[in-house]
Amino acid sequence: MMRTRPLKVALLGCGVVGSEVARIMTTHADDLTARIGAPVELAGVAVRRPSKVREGIDPALITTDATALLKRGDIDVAIEVIGGIEPARALITTAFEHGISVVSANKALLAQDGAALHAAAEQHGLDLYYEAAVAGAIPLVRPMRESLAGDKINRVMGIVNGTTNFILDKMDSTGAGYQEALDEATALGYAEADPTADVEGYDAAAKAAILAGIAFHTRVRLDDVYREGMTEVSAADFASAKRMGCTIKLLAILERAADGESVTARVHPAMIPLSHPLASVREAYNAVFVEAEAAGRLMFYGPGAGGSPTASAVLGDLVAVCRNKLAEATGPGESAYTQLPVSPMGDVVTRYHISLDVADKPGVLAQVATTFAEHGVSIDTVRQQGRPDGVGNEASLVVVTHRAPDASLSGTVEALRKLDTVRGVASIMRVEGE
Ligand code: HSE
Repeated sequence: MMRTRPLKVALLGCGVVGSEVARIMTTHADDLTARIGAPVELAGVAVRRPSKVREGIDPALITTDATALLKRGDIDVAIEVIGGIEPARALITTAFEHGISVVSANKALLAQDGAALHAAAEQHGLDLYYEAAVAGAIPLVRPMRESLAGDKINRVMGIVNGTTNFILDKMDSTGAGYQEALDEATALGYAEADPTADVEGYDAAAKAAILAGIAFHTRVRLDDVYREGMTEVSAADFASAKRMGCTIKLLAILERAADGESVTARVHPAMIPLSHPLASVREAYNAVFVEAEAAGRLMFYGPGAGGSPTASAVLGDLVAVCRNKLAEATGPGESAYTQLPVSPMGDVVTRYHISLDVADKPGVLAQVATTFAEHGVSIDTVRQQGRPDGVGNEASLVVVTHRAPDASLSGTVEALRKLDTVRGVASIMRVEGE
């Protein structure tokens, strides 16, 4: 039986994503009604700037008082697409206090306060859905929370930031330096005027925290995620990666320790072999590679940002939450029962590519090799060449190691820097995905 009384939706925020949500809700109203089993009605739109022209939205729905909209008593679901911590957090809390389920696209808030928000939703018997918070249109949160709920995820490795993938892809395909590629990303509208959140890895770290919590059924806070940006990646690093049959990506890597007793979460640039599926993710696309015990290896790929792709994920959540409302049920809440600790970056074990500028004279290679050995780091390959700029008596030395703990590698690098014969450590890059 189709219910005729509509489910009422409050849209909080009407920017690039919000306006697409409103447009699709209007143009696809009949399909949404059929899929939900009741009509769904846009009952109010809270904005900061009411004078802005918003095509396709009834001006009577616009308000600047989001709190009053949530408190008026007839709202079933709130869609929060404001972003940032406040006022989004206060509004979501108000929504729960007034019996309203929430769909959010807010990665920063969920990474920082996910546990408290989940607890509030559960306390009031409501839903909190956030597919759009991680990797835009790509179905990822729901597959990990629901489809893989019977499996055991051991590793997640993903490209979860489109801006940085665009920049790195440009550097790879054209030989451009970081600044040149960033300028192109800015001109094309991929990078924001202040690109810090993307290029320094903050955006990816927030998504990593959310995914790690879901993957390992534990709580991973934003502060638990080790983060390095990609502003230091150079054309020389790409040339070196190419010689090794690799490319460079900004990766979010989440791992369960071999003994199963802890997890790690990190974001940093890394070399990956061209044969790895993530190496072929070009331009501003996102992709997440999941390794689960029974399922094996899965890859989720698609547009990770933009109004329309993000609205697709929001609307998928809206349909699910509305169905739950009709069934007087809720979907899966937070699952953090394993309470696994998050180990520090020093415990991560991986391979490294280290590029050194050294004096070109007898005994230097032996001295460098001894330093690695003293710190328990085994060398896989060494390549030495005279400096391309023809500087006399200096050489460039590229060392690739076997797997070693990050703390051992840091100790090695610290000792290398103290050697008179080492003029500088040009770059350190982790090698992943082998
Ligand atoms: N700025 C992000 C990106 C999109 O470039 O992927 C929003 O998370």
